[in-house]
Amino acid sequence: MTNLDLYAKAEHLLGIEEATEALYDLYRSELDDYDVKTLLDVGCGRGGFMQRMISDGVTCKGVDLSALMISECRLKGLDAECINAKDVDGKYDAIVSIFDVLNFMQKEELIEFLEAMAEKLNDDGIFIADINTLYGFSDVAEGTMSNDSENEFLSVDALFENNELHTKFTLFEKTENECFTKYQETIVQYFHKINIFQKLSGLKLVDKQTFSLYDTEDKTLLIFKKR
Ligand SMILES: C[S@@+](CC[C@H](N)C(=O)[O-])C[C@H]1O[C@@H](n2cnc3c(N)ncnc32)[C@H](O)[C@@H]1O
Repeated sequence: MTNLDLYAKAEHLLGIEEATEALYDLYRSELDDYDVKTLLDVGCGRGGFMQRMISDGVTCKGVDLSALMISECRLKGLDAECINAKDVDGKYDAIVSIFDVLNFMQKEELIEFLEAMAEKLNDDGIFIADINTLYGFSDVAEGTMSNDSENEFLSVDALFENNELHTKFTLFEKTENECFTKYQETIVQYFHKINIFQKLSGLKLVDKQTFSLYDTEDKTLLIFKKR
């Protein structure tokens, strides 16, 4: 199992539903200012944001590097593929990457990704994403938590050091014969300074809003326009 598939398996035990809804509301209200008919959701997860945008009449496509996430999207009838976003066909009025997706990429990969997304935008297209602030990493994300359900036990252990958050997920899942299967994977997230977003050739950073998702000023919303 890949680390992103283990995240997909464990996500429902993380208690992030409320924060996810709050983020979706924020993105939706930002997108309302634009005439968006087509949307690409990079790191679409289970497709919750696409479902909301489809109900607003927007044609949506999602990509995610977790095959598990994509199979859940497809079960919901969504247009979703487990491919690198750079390989997506077509152009879109808006592209979004919601809930930490940019933090999963290292600086060089991130810059390459953003320049590739500029190529996938129609003229006047917008790209919206959120990133964790230093405070969001050091004071909110770092630490340990555990949670369980009838058939699962999850422990999460996160350490922020040298601008990287290493989060170890350990999941025990009950099998048919009353035994438990153990899964363990680490996800690394990278802190990014705002200045890297101001030097892109294909995208212009037109707005940044630091806000509180869990705690004081833990996230920044970035809004780019195609140059
Ligand atoms: C915290 S989840 C958020 C999922 C979804 N956007 C939501 O708001 O529910 C981050 C997602 O990003 C995906 N991901 C991480 N790196 C990615 C990449 N380079 N390209 C596409 N998806 C990525 C993960 O598999 C995961 O589904």
